[in-house]
Amino acid sequence: MNPSNTNRSGTSVSLVQIVIGGILIIAGGFFIGTLTPNIVPVEGSAEAQQVDGLFRFMLVIGAAIFLLVNGVLAVSIIRFRARANDYSDGPPIQGNTTLEFVWTLIPAIIVTVLTLYAYSVWNNITSVKPNEQVVDVTGQRFAWTFTYDVTEADLGDLGVAREQLSEDVNASFVDGGALTFNYPQLATWVGKPVHVQLHTQDVNHAFWIPGMRIKQDLLAGRVTDIRFTPIEAGVYRIVCAELCGSGHGDMAGTVDANGNLRGAWLIVYEDEETYMREFYRPEAQNVLFPPEDPVALGRQILAAGSYPCASCHVLSDLGWQGNVGPNLDDIGNRAATRRGGFTAEEYLANSIRHPGEYVVPGYGNLMPQFNPDPALTNYMPDDHLNAIVAYLLTQQAG
Ligand code: CUA
Repeated sequence: MNPSNTNRSGTSVSLVQIVIGGILIIAGGFFIGTLTPNIVPVEGSAEAQQVDGLFRFMLVIGAAIFLLVNGVLAVSIIRFRARANDYSDGPPIQGNTTLEFVWTLIPAIIVTVLTLYAYSVWNNITSVKPNEQVVDVTGQRFAWTFTYDVTEADLGDLGVAREQLSEDVNASFVDGGALTFNYPQLATWVGKPVHVQLHTQDVNHAFWIPGMRIKQDLLAGRVTDIRFTPIEAGVYRIVCAELCGSGHGDMAGTVDANGNLRGAWLIVYEDEETYMREFYRPEAQNVLFPPEDPVALGRQILAAGSYPCASCHVLSDLGWQGNVGPNLDDIGNRAATRRGGFTAEEYLANSIRHPGEYVVPGYGNLMPQFNPDPALTNYMPDDHLNAIVAYLLTQQAG
């Protein structure tokens, strides 16, 4: 052996030091693992507890490996550094079968355990739960719409007697049918399993509720789904996690200057009774007893968020703050002169039915087309269209 190497090869590490180092590394891994609640949002769902358990487990292992690698690196730098005037090479090292076997076996065990653990978590959180609330979620550039059923039993809970209902509404309940209404926020209550079914009207989006620890892609031409059961009342931000165009950032819930929730939020009430009282009542009443005046009806339809206009347009009357499409404040002043050969009514109606035909200069051709045919996507019945146009025409500079 080259005498100048005595320094390095002669410095051995005792078994006691290895044991102490090992204990420190494992203890450090567990300590870093316990920091999990500080780096993730509040656990809002039963699924979040399981996902966080898996995350914590991986963090403990990852942190222990991090400490091991960096610990060995630090010890090597200090103890085995080149001394002054030592220009020699280190000793040649041949293969070490035992070492190679150990460093292959340990990762293999870790990966196998992680696979089984992760698979069991995935199985649990995607399994069908009893008594699920089914919600249809539609993603489109650039908004989310949640479609709910109103059943006869819901109406009973709301104190609406069957005699009060219109014939149309009554007809919907024949054979256990339901009325549907759309809303830009998803509401449920603690302990209620939710099954969301995801459709996209255009490109791929991703439905993400960080507080629930669920994230699922929406794929064009397919229906995907995901489940969660809230355990903590509160409001949770819904986010689009797939870059889908210029308004991608608008597909996330925001809070306006007055503290009102705008856009996509999950609202979890304490119990079903509170949910029926706080959330369901006004929306259900709107579906059941629409106003006769078209202007009032149009305002109500837009205010209820049945169509996702709010995320792209400014309309101060309803508190909309979107910036992807043209401003709708004072639209009543401009509609008649915007496009040659079109009256104000025709211009607005055509802009909703065929938005691609005329695009206001400076804006992209991004608006979805709203169709009169229920079989097509983005269905908007004629009476809704007429009411919305009537309401928009009242938006004039004072
Ligand atoms: Cu939808 Cu990003």
